[in-house]
Amino acid sequence: METVLTVIAEFDRFGLDRRREPVISFGGGVLLDLVGVATSMYRRGVPHVRVPTTLLGQVDAAIGAKTGINHGAHKNRLGSFQQPAGVLLDRRFLASLDERHLRNGMAEIVKLAVVRDERLFELLEEHGELLIEERFQGSSPTGERVARQVLHRSVQGMLAELEPNLWERELDRLVDFGHSVGPALEMRADGELLHGETVAIDIALFTTVAASRGVLDDKAGRRILELLHRLALPTDHHLLDGDLLRRAMTDTVRHRDGRQRLPVPVGIGAATFLNDVSDEELRSALRHRRREAVPT
Ligand SMILES: NC(=O)c1ccc[n+]([C@@H]2O[C@H](COP(=O)([O-])OP(=O)(O)OC[C@H]3O[C@@H](n4cnc5c(N)ncnc54)[C@H](O)[C@@H]3O)[C@@H](O)[C@H]2O)c1
Repeated sequence: METVLTVIAEFDRFGLDRRREPVISFGGGVLLDLVGVATSMYRRGVPHVRVPTTLLGQVDAAIGAKTGINHGAHKNRLGSFQQPAGVLLDRRFLASLDERHLRNGMAEIVKLAVVRDERLFELLEEHGELLIEERFQGSSPTGERVARQVLHRSVQGMLAELEPNLWERELDRLVDFGHSVGPALEMRADGELLHGETVAIDIALFTTVAASRGVLDDKAGRRILELLHRLALPTDHHLLDGDLLRRAMTDTVRHRDGRQRLPVPVGIGAATFLNDVSDEELRSALRHRRREAVPT
């Protein structure tokens, strides 16, 4: 919040006109979220153009209408819904992004592929490593073709999920896959894990829950976990324990207005929601994950 107020002080110092001069922010998801809080509060809302410069920003954080900052021990506890005046996507920014942050952004693409886009999943299986190697810059003809396809499918997929439910009146949201216990882990890890890395860990856990219940066949479950490993994304973390799982679920149920609404895959490119997952079932999935862990 201190940083938000610093940004707001700069709006005053600049002498920002209310409507004619949109604030244009360039940066990763953290910066876009934070400037979004500032622009949605300033004079009760001034226009904001987002220019995401990270992969995660381009396929997720800049799309949609959410702004947010952390508060206390909680991820995005404060924020608003503010439709951006525009979002400009240019993958040339990704040329300078380091490998860890590229992989981090890949986690949100995997999320979307698992819940709604089998073709996108296949593209990641086949060419994910090449995309990271080329930083989405299309250094080879295949890399160029696949970078275009993957970014296009990711952004269009996000838009298709978000647009009919921009203000989240409906809380059964497929895009919440990867975000059920991930946010609590991200806060507990205090900078040790990136956002997308916690998404990957959450995907692995709930894929295991789905496979253990038999709503997802073993082969599809293995493909999801193998893709995460192939992209060198984490599927576990030492801070994830029974206590964290219980507390994360309590907060998630409040966030989802009294129900679990847990998105879980039922195949590659399809998902359902579970509302009756017990603490013991989650702990058992975690133990199972640890027994089955594929060495990286
Ligand atoms: N509003 C939403 O709907 C939404 C959705 C998904 C994620 N998020 C949020 O996004 C955040 C994560 O965003 P992120 O992964 O972009 O992390 P980030 O904003 O921390 O950026 C990652 C790092 O990359 C640097 N950077 C940015 N662009 C660069 C470039 N082109 N070249 C080199 N370095 C560059 C940044 O300075 C930063 O150090 C999380 O806080 C998450 O909650 C928001």
